[in-house]
Amino acid sequence: MENDKNSYPVTDHAYWSRRWQSKETQWQNKTVHYFLEKHQQELFGDGKHRKVFIPFCGKSVDMKWFAELGFKVVGVEVCDLPIKSFFEDNSIAYTVEKNDFPSTCTVYKSIDESICIYNCDFFDFTPEAEGQFDFIWDRGGLSATEPDNRTKYIDLILTLMSPDSMYLLETFEYDSRHHPGPPYNLPVESVHELFGKYCKICRKDEKEFLENARIGFCQKLDYCRICFYAIQLK
Ligand SMILES: C[S@@+](CC[C@H](N)C(=O)[O-])C[C@H]1O[C@@H](n2cnc3c(N)ncnc32)[C@H](O)[C@@H]1O
Repeated sequence: MENDKNSYPVTDHAYWSRRWQSKETQWQNKTVHYFLEKHQQELFGDGKHRKVFIPFCGKSVDMKWFAELGFKVVGVEVCDLPIKSFFEDNSIAYTVEKNDFPSTCTVYKSIDESICIYNCDFFDFTPEAEGQFDFIWDRGGLSATEPDNRTKYIDLILTLMSPDSMYLLETFEYDSRHHPGPPYNLPVESVHELFGKYCKICRKDEKEFLENARIGFCQKLDYCRICFYAIQLK
């Protein structure tokens, strides 16, 4: 079942800020994401140093993992708390700059400039800031975006993809009668509806997630899996 329109909560800046302040951040992984590690060789095995974009990045350890693989990492996060804490927890020295582009925002950069996090609303980010990307890793971006905003979200993602880009997406599949989101239920049919016109869609993997989902966001679920897609422009 897809999410029932109008039945989901407002997940605005204040909502996320509250969750960070009150440490209700059950989505956080302590180690690099299962799908990235499992498919590393196939996806990134050629050793080329490229640029990856991580929308809704939080303080994900995946950013450090990508940087250690040689990627230039660009994240966008609306709350400043996780950004500072990402650099401090990982003992990465960083600078803080005011930027007029996109809009007025603060940019946190590792001293070696391998990791750069824009503290702004994703919807204000534009390709003029950092150009287009070879990879986009979307874990908790689209799946945390209210269904009514999905088209707007994807329109922006498409502008950030170069012709050879690969957009790697994690989704959740569960019966949304039990939980309104976030994370929002995003079944395979919806992925095809949202991207099918512009993109080739490859569903690469899936993983049982019921136990984690019951602890993390809804005890009542009877099934839940996470799915991994590789999406490329047609
Ligand atoms: C579910 S968490 C995922 C975090 C991270 N990707 C991870 O894997 O740990 C969603 C994150 O997106 C941030 N966020 C929510 N709305 C945003 C927006 N409009 N622009 C930028 N960041 C946003 C939240 O503060 C939160 O850190």
